Amino acid sequence: APLGGRNTLRVDARAKLLAEVRDPLKIPGILAFPAVKAGKVMVLGEGSNMLIKGDFDGTVLAVANAGVETFQRDDRVLIRVAAGERWDDFVRWSLGQGYAGLENLILIPGTVGAAPIQNIGAYGVEVAEFIDTVEAYDTHAGEFVVLDKAACAFSYRDSSFKQQAGRWIVVAVTFALPRERPLSLDYAGIREEVEHMGIARPTPYHVAEAVVRLRSRKLPDPAVIGNAGSFFKNPVVAQAQADALALAHPGLPVWPHAGGTAKISAGWLIEAAGFKGQRDGDAGMSNRHALVLVNHGKATGPQLWAFAQKVIAGVQAAFGITLEPEPLIV
Ligand code: EPU
Repeated sequence: APLGGRNTLRVDARAKLLAEVRDPLKIPGILAFPAVKAGKVMVLGEGSNMLIKGDFDGTVLAVANAGVETFQRDDRVLIRVAAGERWDDFVRWSLGQGYAGLENLILIPGTVGAAPIQNIGAYGVEVAEFIDTVEAYDTHAGEFVVLDKAACAFSYRDSSFKQQAGRWIVVAVTFALPRERPLSLDYAGIREEVEHMGIARPTPYHVAEAVVRLRSRKLPDPAVIGNAGSFFKNPVVAQAQADALALAHPGLPVWPHAGGTAKISAGWLIEAAGFKGQRDGDAGMSNRHALVLVNHGKATGPQLWAFAQKVIAGVQAAFGITLEPEPLIV
């Protein structure tokens, strides 16, 4: 089965088998199928956070269930969303229903089921804050399970689902969304955008609009040019190392992070190492945003991966920092 239309980096790879899952209860049956059981299994939503390095010698499960359900538990309203729903549709629906919180996360590509895997985040907000539970099929235990937030072990672009890749197949996510929440306006770019809009007392809608404007300006649109968002994580290093780097390289953005560490800007490092807008054939780093690996047309998985390796080596040579890929490398 062709995967070219199923990954936003538009890598033209193939999978041996592909099963479109509309009803998650069919997952155990699909996995028990001899031809499936014999090989590897990979779960795919919209393929917006992966680099497929080559043909996949196994079964791709395209989770495509639908539905949004609101229910009351104790004194809380919870919203259960099928994994196959589009994340951005859910964000817009939530704002329309008068819920707050997801406005900074508008326009992120991908499905709801993919959101907890890498704990999607943008402009000072991470999805983990709003997740109550995640329902998944546990391939180790051979049963459906409900993981509470602690079991998901969320941290910066990370979770149990990413740490134990392949173990769980997410089928639904239950969110607890507030009716009111202080706006997250720590990010200067968003504040400036809101000011440009001439809004004195912004609501979540205004912040969502500001995020749409900022993202549209700064990030390449996967509908126009193949990409998977940030291709590298912002490195987390010891505070002392960050201080030394900032001293040697004025202008390097450094943000405080958990437990005496600091997060530094991978985009800045990549641009300073000269890779912004560079390309080998059709594989390169975006000229809009240095952190985004782009496919200008017909780049293959290996060509994109080779360019990523070149960037890792260049940044390592210039700054002594080893960048880690953010998307899943398959
Ligand atoms: N920068 C450069 N050159 C560039 C791009 C950025 O020097 O070409 C420097 C600038 O100093 C800029 C700073 O990097 O101020 C930060 O850039 P930006 O605000 O675009 O954020 P980021 O750290 O590069 C992260 C997330 C994005 C998220 C934005 C906004 C990661 C790996 N990436 O990027 O998430 O949208 O913040 O919150 O944490 C994604 O995960 O796919 C993603 C797009």
